[in-house]
Amino acid sequence: MSENSSAAGHTCTISLELNGERRELQVQPWTTLLDLLRDQLGLTGTKKGCDHGQCGACTVLLDGRRINSCLTLAVMHDGASLTTIEGLASDATLHPLQAAFVKHDAFQCGYCTPGQICSAAGLAAENRASSRDEIREHMSGNLCRCGAYPNILAAIEDALPTLRGQEGAQ
Ligand code: FES
Ligand code: FES
Repeated sequence: MSENSSAAGHTCTISLELNGERRELQVQPWTTLLDLLRDQLGLTGTKKGCDHGQCGACTVLLDGRRINSCLTLAVMHDGASLTTIEGLASDATLHPLQAAFVKHDAFQCGYCTPGQICSAAGLAAENRASSRDEIREHMSGNLCRCGAYPNILAAIEDALPTLRGQEGAQ
């Protein structure tokens, strides 16, 4: 990370692999990862719900692990790999979780959906949930005000075996 001062104020240069593409970015030291994504890069798929680490709407995958992007500063992640909801599909093919959410009608307003899907992708990589109750427990940081939980649970339960198969094949 390098630091620069200019008329525009103090900025730092960081490097991020963002959805598979290495990017050099100028960020102000106080910019959260969430604001970098939404305000600076126009990646508005990641949602700002509470902005206080309580709802999970801002969940992204940082070096493969789920994280609330509202609670962390962008400058802390120089060199990291970041995946947002925009980076989960490959070409024209939906990610298995995206397909399962569509199949199970797992959204109403959809505002929480990107965070739910990123969180579920992180959960699959953690390989910790093998029952409905465990999925519920490990997804409990992601709130849905519409109450689409039964369908979200069904979608994740449906997609987990596919995701585990993909991990095993790598
Ligand atoms: S916006 Fe980050 S947890 Fe709610
Ligand atoms: S679908 Fe509306 S908040 Fe979850």
